[in-house]
Amino acid sequence: LDRFRASVAEHDRVADTPRRTQDRAAEVLGAFPERFRNEPDTDPSLAANRDWARRAVAATPADVTGPELTDPAAVDAVVERAAGSSWRAVEPGERARLLREAARALAAARTELLTTMVHEAGKTVAEADPEISEAVDFAAYYADRAAELDPQRFTPARVVVVTPPWNFPVAIPLGGCLAALAAGAAVVIKPAPQVRACAEVGVAALHAAGIPADALQLVHTDEGDAGRRLVTHPAVERVVLTGASETAALFRSWRPDLGVIAETSGKNALVITPAADPDLAVADLVRSAFGHAGQKCSAASLAILVGPVGDPRSKVGRRFRRQLADAVRTLRVGPGTDLSSTMGPLVDALSPKLERALTTLEPGESWLVEPRRVADATWTPGVREGVAPGSWFHVTECFGPVLGLMRAGSLDEAIEQQDATGFGLTGGLHSLDEDEIAYWMERVEVGNAYVNRHITGAIVQRQSFGGWKGSVVGPGAKPGGPNYVAQFGTWTDPARLE
Ligand code: SER
Repeated sequence: LDRFRASVAEHDRVADTPRRTQDRAAEVLGAFPERFRNEPDTDPSLAANRDWARRAVAATPADVTGPELTDPAAVDAVVERAAGSSWRAVEPGERARLLREAARALAAARTELLTTMVHEAGKTVAEADPEISEAVDFAAYYADRAAELDPQRFTPARVVVVTPPWNFPVAIPLGGCLAALAAGAAVVIKPAPQVRACAEVGVAALHAAGIPADALQLVHTDEGDAGRRLVTHPAVERVVLTGASETAALFRSWRPDLGVIAETSGKNALVITPAADPDLAVADLVRSAFGHAGQKCSAASLAILVGPVGDPRSKVGRRFRRQLADAVRTLRVGPGTDLSSTMGPLVDALSPKLERALTTLEPGESWLVEPRRVADATWTPGVREGVAPGSWFHVTECFGPVLGLMRAGSLDEAIEQQDATGFGLTGGLHSLDEDEIAYWMERVEVGNAYVNRHITGAIVQRQSFGGWKGSVVGPGAKPGGPNYVAQFGTWTDPARLE
């Protein structure tokens, strides 16, 4: 616990500093192995990097998307080719070498990935660039995990199917593939239909690095018989799913014995106490709530304001709301191809839940900032005031640019409201009081708890990413953490999978 506290304290100091500084902090703590280094993001303060980004977003993305399989027999052929791959016989050390090559190939593909993500996935450069770093990190980090596997005790799954979401179109799909490949399993990936080209570009980089074509296959299927066949083929031993809890349940209903490794929905809150630095709290809240237009499972959808911060009639409560409203109104909403945009469009069709969140208040609520539709898929951000405990917005994941403000009389009450969502993915606390920090840390029921930092953008190894409660299905080891790869096979001694 002492070491944990020390790392929390250290984290406060390094939050929001460049990755290289964070790495040094990790070294000081001695917590992480020497070899792995997080890939740095592109520094936009350098003019050369801004020119690079300008050229990348002005380029036309390559037309790389293959045909869609609709025939279950065609899916069988893909899965059987994967099952016959000799990848599982490749020595762990050689797999690790190829994964390190994959890390280099992805880093080299940064420009092409950026172009594709901005055009196809509606990302701003500020959102897309770190996601590419994360994919590079997954490759290098899982390479180290591959080298640790003992072939005497570990048997890789035959085939792993990866079914990623559309909101992180590079890091999540490739992260799932790379983890399974590190374990020695062959992989079939079915990208989300909205972002097929992003996955194609990433998978091409892995093939160019030497990952065999039969060990990593990309298919586009419809969600009908072909999609169902992909998940239910008997050679498929694990499915990696990042998406709705309902999809995990659907997969299980198709095949009860299926090993589903899923990160599902979230309803995440940032708690702000009177001991917070309000400037930092507002900046981190806006970034957490409206980065990628709130279309992140990790996004802050609630701010729980404690004591006078919650009271709109108190001086501190009024000041907080004014600062927040100003910060939200100054976000520049537009396409990622315009480098001055700070919030992008909605990527998917407006869901009924998000439409309700953007247009309809519950009794007792009002708009601190009212959202507006400015183009077909583009909405300005909204902030709901006075969200009540147990109300619809308190417990419903809406997945878009809407933040709700709740009030709590005490930190205990705030934790209660945070836990009462039923989900447990990310959560944050803004407070400079060490006792409050320790108290909250011991009680909050989320997979990723952040102190005095934005609550999105987990960094591989430093902050392995995943949930508790309604936010996870399966054994629960987290992507970017030490035990994730070990889920893609069976151990002779199950105690290893703690
Ligand atoms: N890993 C992402 C984050 O931390 C979410 O998938 O924001």
